[in-house]
Amino acid sequence: MARESIMPPPGDPPPGGPSEPPGDENDGALRPKRIADMVGQKDVIAVLRIAMDAASKREEPLGHILFDGPPGLGKTTFATCIPREMGVNVQMASGPSLKAPKDILPYLTNLEYRSVLFVDEIHRMPKAVEEYLYTAMEDFRIDIVLGEGVSARTLNLQLKPFTLIGATTRAGMLSGPLRDRFQIREHLGFYSLAELTEIIHRNAKKMDVAIDARAASEISRRSRGTPRIANNRLLWIRDYAMSKSDGKVDVNIVNQALEMTGIDQLGLDRQDRRYLETLIRVFGGGPAGIEAIAHTMNVSSDTLVDEVEPFLLRSELLIRSTRGRCATPKAFEHLKLTPPSEKAGELPLFPEE
Ligand SMILES: Nc1ncnc2c1ncn2[C@@H]1O[C@H](COP(=O)(O)OP(=O)(O)O)[C@@H](O)[C@H]1O
Ligand SMILES: [Mg+2]
Repeated sequence: MARESIMPPPGDPPPGGPSEPPGDENDGALRPKRIADMVGQKDVIAVLRIAMDAASKREEPLGHILFDGPPGLGKTTFATCIPREMGVNVQMASGPSLKAPKDILPYLTNLEYRSVLFVDEIHRMPKAVEEYLYTAMEDFRIDIVLGEGVSARTLNLQLKPFTLIGATTRAGMLSGPLRDRFQIREHLGFYSLAELTEIIHRNAKKMDVAIDARAASEISRRSRGTPRIANNRLLWIRDYAMSKSDGKVDVNIVNQALEMTGIDQLGLDRQDRRYLETLIRVFGGGPAGIEAIAHTMNVSSDTLVDEVEPFLLRSELLIRSTRGRCATPKAFEHLKLTPPSEKAGELPLFPEE
């Protein structure tokens, strides 16, 4: 642990009580308030219901819970619904803002019995803060080092038994000791078309938007299995329908609205298509190194790896091999480009190893 003097910073402790997470996009009204309002994630919900039920019967805090999975699938939503179901308060923190042990101290000292501390992007907490959490999670106790050098002394502080809910998009980046201290670890996967369609219908109703079944399923097909994306598409299409026609959403409106923002039939955006076009036109479909593609596109390779490639890989438009990135036949077809082997009668697309 860092041998620095850590005292709680002055000022108000972080506010408790179920609240909208700060900095999230403007869809607070669409976020389900109760677990019963959540669509999909049946297996995860079944586990949570049992854990919540047992904790309530024992009148004990719920065990610590870790959610992992790609952005927009419901991690924060679970973290706000669970405390509501349990009838306890929640405090919201985020990994990157907890730079030193003193940053997490006010949250810990502010805990009430059985209340929830939610730490978003928990993999981005520095090691010193993470180590501090170990005893807090395990024994509901922290050791505060006061002073420095020979005059340093340790203050043991007993915490109220609480529940830590962690969320991460990178489960692999969590250290073993931290991961092992979560009693429940759940992975959130992508949503089926039927589930997304259901979410779109529910949210259209909440917003008082008339939408027909074909339009809803068209939006869901183009939403990458992700509720946050489905909601954003729906919000834009609602605006488009209001501005361009009578506000009713049918499949024509969906097509026009999404075309205007560059979202295609598979849900790819302009950047996704630019990646594939670069790979195909400049590199003959690959194999090409990520750095070379990034330089040609004039974007950072991190952006491509984190934000563009996952969906292209999942859609089977792209292959990542040890020799580099390759566009699949499906990618050529989707962009209506001809594979070089057919064009030149040579240069096989995937040469034998
Ligand atoms: N299971 C679900 N049912 C309905 N809507 C959901 C569900 N999961 C997420 N959403 C919607 O998607 C949005 C993004 O979810 P969120 O929990 O913020 O994702 P994450 O924290 O995993 O990035 C929420 O505001 C909510 O409206
Ligand atoms: Mg979130």
